[in-house]
Amino acid sequence: MKMQLITRAIGAPLNRVDGVQKVTGTAKYAYEYSVEGVTHVFPVQSTIAKGRVVSIDAHAAQALPGVIAVLSHENAPRLAPVDDAELAVFQSDAIAYHGQFVAAVVAETSEIARQAASLVVVRYEEQPHDVELRADRGDLYKPQSIILGRAQTDTESGDVEAALTSAAVSLDHTYTTPAEHNNPLEPHATTAIWSDEEVTLYDSNQGSHATRDTVATAFRLPPERVRVIARSVGGGFGSKGFPHPHTILTVMAAQATRRPVKLALTRQQMFALVGYRTPTIQRMRLGAESNGRLTAIAHDVVEQTATIHEFAEQTAVATRMMYAAPNRRTTHRLARLDVPANSWMRAPGECPGMFALESAMDELAIACGLDPIELRIRNEPAVDPESGHPFSSRGLVACLREGAQRFGWAQRDPKPRTRRDGSWLIGIGVAALTYPVYQFPATALVQVDPAGNYRVRIDATDIGTGAWTVLTQIAADALEVPPERVQLEIGDSALPRAFVAGASSGTASWGWAIFSAASALRTRLHEEYGGIVPGAFETNPEAQQFSMHAFGAQFAEVRVHMTTGEVRVPRLLGVFAAGRIINPKTARSQFLGGMTMGLSMALHEESVLDPRFGDYVNHDFAEYHIATNADVGTIDVTWIDEEDPHVNPLGAKGIGEIGIVGTAAAIANAVYHATGIRVRDLPITLDKLLP
Ligand code: MOS
Repeated sequence: MKMQLITRAIGAPLNRVDGVQKVTGTAKYAYEYSVEGVTHVFPVQSTIAKGRVVSIDAHAAQALPGVIAVLSHENAPRLAPVDDAELAVFQSDAIAYHGQFVAAVVAETSEIARQAASLVVVRYEEQPHDVELRADRGDLYKPQSIILGRAQTDTESGDVEAALTSAAVSLDHTYTTPAEHNNPLEPHATTAIWSDEEVTLYDSNQGSHATRDTVATAFRLPPERVRVIARSVGGGFGSKGFPHPHTILTVMAAQATRRPVKLALTRQQMFALVGYRTPTIQRMRLGAESNGRLTAIAHDVVEQTATIHEFAEQTAVATRMMYAAPNRRTTHRLARLDVPANSWMRAPGECPGMFALESAMDELAIACGLDPIELRIRNEPAVDPESGHPFSSRGLVACLREGAQRFGWAQRDPKPRTRRDGSWLIGIGVAALTYPVYQFPATALVQVDPAGNYRVRIDATDIGTGAWTVLTQIAADALEVPPERVQLEIGDSALPRAFVAGASSGTASWGWAIFSAASALRTRLHEEYGGIVPGAFETNPEAQQFSMHAFGAQFAEVRVHMTTGEVRVPRLLGVFAAGRIINPKTARSQFLGGMTMGLSMALHEESVLDPRFGDYVNHDFAEYHIATNADVGTIDVTWIDEEDPHVNPLGAKGIGEIGIVGTAAAIANAVYHATGIRVRDLPITLDKLLP
């Protein structure tokens, strides 16, 4: 299959095909489908972090007019076990974290359900909980693997300790990042409708097949008896990648009451129930020759997982392939704590890991008396240091050079604390970034009618990224028709199977499946008129021969107030090398969003755990701060034209996550340049900059 791709729609700044629906409010989200006779469920959450439920008194709740049922482990239907123990809702009296569901009320209205939930009296037998992540804990353990079995926990080559000892220049610093919570604008929501032995869900998720499979297993249904629909999704950032307890609860409530049930989590509930980014403690040691050539890199990570479900974040993976060094080591150690389950958050691994690596590279440049861009160029590897494979394409140096020119880097005096404007110290900083190319199997169906209109069907999900639009563009070019001829159907588990909108894999994987179905249809159209043709993307054999990653560089200018320590970021620049950009308009928006989230990570986002309760206490937008418009200055986004013949027939790498990687380091490096103060602990709050 080597069909030539002629790009017409691809590369054009097509407006979002769902844009009008979005701005007129007619795009329907999971909670918004009007369903005859719908009822509402509201959960009761554990007020202890560890122990068991001794009793549940639902009398007062049940007495409230409009209450239909009160569910708990005492009366809930038995579920079949699923991989994630967190999904065993009401299957035992055990409490594994503060905020866990212990009961739920189903009622005629959401207000009644909520009020009744507050009347449920739960008695607990409390056990001491252990929720504090520290690097000196004696019980840290090595998980079997990271990235759900896709990568080794530790890697080692050469003799790191010897190389560090004999290095002309070396550094040994610990960088820490806090827990951070995914906060998509649309909360997690589910509507469940049972009929006979089938259930239909309108569910806010990143992949309807994943949710369908889990629900089918838990409720002992054949998968075809579960249908999950997610046509519009208001953001996910990883938190909607796989189902969480609220989806199981809603399906259970609908089954138990024989009524349709809906649930939208409150913002506060989301802070305990849909995952978050683990806090990290990262010891980074670098050894180099005096000319800046790295001789050793060691990146040792400590992070947390919940007792109820292991999630081992891949914090040091980017360090394995980023720079050449003969002696390299990465390790991941976990503390198993009585905390809510952490999970994916935009660029899991790369995002916090590159904050440490790229801060350390800035510190090394200073120690070597080298320009930080030159230092990175000197350590550019010829092949992937880990696998020994050539890169399918690697645009890091091009991005650094392009960015330096565009940002006015040459005018920078490397000495810190030299630029000043009144009471403001000014500095600029740079960081490199990367994100791997992930591609997962997908199937698409393309159908043509005699009038030459094409239906393209695949269970892809648009979580606000522009998938509706870019997949239309890909289909149009693969079919050699204008986009208006393409009628795309996505966001429904009744469509051909595809993997979740996660790991920045969507455009490449779904696009490849569509390309392959479209190519097959075009071939068949030469032979006979009409027909339905499936096409699939299974695996890319070239992934065994090439190391595939997107790269980029971010530049930041900061102003730090000398009296208050306040940090402002008037300018950010991101330059990316991510293969062929399918739609410059939606792509720019992805990069902008990622960089804004990175700015937010650098300066604001921090989930604060109160060890007395064992939970995150700043669980709303009043106290968990996210960058607003007023925090963002000018963000300049650009990319280099990168042709990659190996990644896929489209030449496209993923772009959903790379924008958040590197921003925090670029800002921290700029803060150092402005003030001479190195902040190794995110977020960079003003107290860390005051004497
Ligand atoms: Mo992304 S955190 O893999 O949805």
